Amino acid sequence: MEDLSRLRLRIEDGKERLAQAAAEEIANAVSSVLIEKERCTVALTGGSTPRAAYQLLGEEPFRSRLAWDKIHFFWGDERHVPPDHADSNYRMAHEAFLAAAPVPAANIHRIPAEDPDASRAAASYEETLRGFFHLGADELPRFDLLLLGLGPDAHIASLFPGNTALHEQKKLVIAPWVEKMSTFRITLTAPVLDNAARVLFLVSGEEKSEAVRNVLEGERDPDLYPGQLLRLKDGEVVWLLDRAAARLLEKH
Ligand code: 6PG
Repeated sequence: MEDLSRLRLRIEDGKERLAQAAAEEIANAVSSVLIEKERCTVALTGGSTPRAAYQLLGEEPFRSRLAWDKIHFFWGDERHVPPDHADSNYRMAHEAFLAAAPVPAANIHRIPAEDPDASRAAASYEETLRGFFHLGADELPRFDLLLLGLGPDAHIASLFPGNTALHEQKKLVIAPWVEKMSTFRITLTAPVLDNAARVLFLVSGEEKSEAVRNVLEGERDPDLYPGQLLRLKDGEVVWLLDRAAARLLEKH
């Protein structure tokens, strides 16, 4: 299949400008989707990097600019904790902007990670996706916008190097055991991530520079560098980096 994907890098000086740029990219992407479509589906990333950008979305001018009732929020992954836990990706987004913005409760599709059985939580979220996107047996959801971070080990969502979860091709959502964290995670699988229409990576800090270089310019080895799983057959991938995270790039 012809590769229709487009790659764009945007490098900003420092975390403040990175957050501002991220909020702009998110708002612009959502607005352009809503020119063509009645609703926009956004899969949020967790972690710490996006928090500042999320906070801007809940404040002016973004708060008034976005058609919140037309946006549906999902998560790319979640820790195996209840929604009020300090580690919860849902809690981070809720505190940063979902509580401040007029988002209808029905538009927030949280991963039920409070379930003591992580695999059951994954299966439940898969049913949520199948229902919302009206998916047939072999169909994949196509998020209008997928936000991703990048771990220092080049993991994306909760797809970690060397983990069997990287090879899941059938399920939409799985609950891999992550040995180095001694915990289960719940995560969208590579085929779902790779089916997004737009991906926005938000990556900052020197500790990510090796992972950024390896994913974008290293040998092809998605098992080692899960960020390489995103080939986007037809879509746009934007890498939003600060200078520190981009410092080892030579070809881009
Ligand atoms: C999570 C994220 C994870 C994150 C990276 C980067 O649940 O933590 O989904 O994939 O994006 O680990 O995290 P930071 O932004 O905190 O560095």
